[in-house]
Amino acid sequence: MSTVHAARQALTDLTPSRERVLEDALRGLSSQPRRLPSKYFYDAAGSALFEQITRTPEYYPTRTELALLARCLPDIARAVGEKAHVVELGSGSGRKTALLLEALREPVAYTPIEISRAALLSSIDHLAPALPAIEMLPVCADFTHPVEVPEPEEEPRRRLMFFPGSTLGNFEQAEAITLLRAMHQTMGREGMALIGIDLHKDTATVEAAYNDAAGITAAFTLNLLRRLNQQIGSDFDLQAFHHRARYSVPNLRIETQLVSDREQDVTVAGQQFHFAPGDAIQVEYSHKYTEASFQQLLDAADLQIVGRWDSVAPEPAFGLRLLQRR
Ligand code: AVJ
Repeated sequence: MSTVHAARQALTDLTPSRERVLEDALRGLSSQPRRLPSKYFYDAAGSALFEQITRTPEYYPTRTELALLARCLPDIARAVGEKAHVVELGSGSGRKTALLLEALREPVAYTPIEISRAALLSSIDHLAPALPAIEMLPVCADFTHPVEVPEPEEEPRRRLMFFPGSTLGNFEQAEAITLLRAMHQTMGREGMALIGIDLHKDTATVEAAYNDAAGITAAFTLNLLRRLNQQIGSDFDLQAFHHRARYSVPNLRIETQLVSDREQDVTVAGQQFHFAPGDAIQVEYSHKYTEASFQQLLDAADLQIVGRWDSVAPEPAFGLRLLQRR
């Protein structure tokens, strides 16, 4: 682990190593069905592409959640109270964070935990000058592994875990429960969590969000292969795979795959992987929730809902939930 001083704050740097990425890629490509972890979408280029996705007309979650947040922040600030230490998982650009930190009552510190070093540093560069009273304690890490949260100089009244964007939806049920349990642990006795969840809705709206007409989502998905080629020296031909995203209603999730256009072999660290035309690699799930499916996850993680806010039609359905230990 290394600590780098960027701007005025110390960065804890636990960026995934080449060895870890290679190991995950080999394991995923050797399993049946083939898969690659969606967390590796987020190198500098992937994080920038994701920001572009959030500005496409089809991708409704970001703008719907921003509007919802803006409306319910006074209620959230009242419920959270003074002097919180905000800990955000997968913070990305920090657009939602600025709204939250400005609305809270004298928050003492902010810890973004983000796998993309570039996205992490740029969000802190934007937030720190605007919020000089808040101690910035960024951590560059994969939040699916246990991360030690830095202690602020000033004693906080409580931790507030912030997990917006329906990022929880990228995890399958067992992993989502593991993650919520880790949040239960990290938040502490007085802690709270504010989580954004995309809600189940009609297939056309959901599928359009993951198949934008400008092709930015397709470029974002394919960037995973470019990132692997760059970091682990694989030889994926980016011209020979295409993006496919379909809503599985029984599983309540978008299933995104990279599909081989032709017969081909891919070499990763000396190992050959054969693809027939139409062979797919599962690369991302984006779960959509019903009240029941979300409640099931909370029950398993010993968490309860203490605040609930939903978007209002004709906005697409999206929810914010404030959670505490049960
Ligand atoms: C921000 C990770 C939740 O799954 O909706 C957007 C990522 N993937 N378009 C999502 C994403 C394709 C996004 N998350």
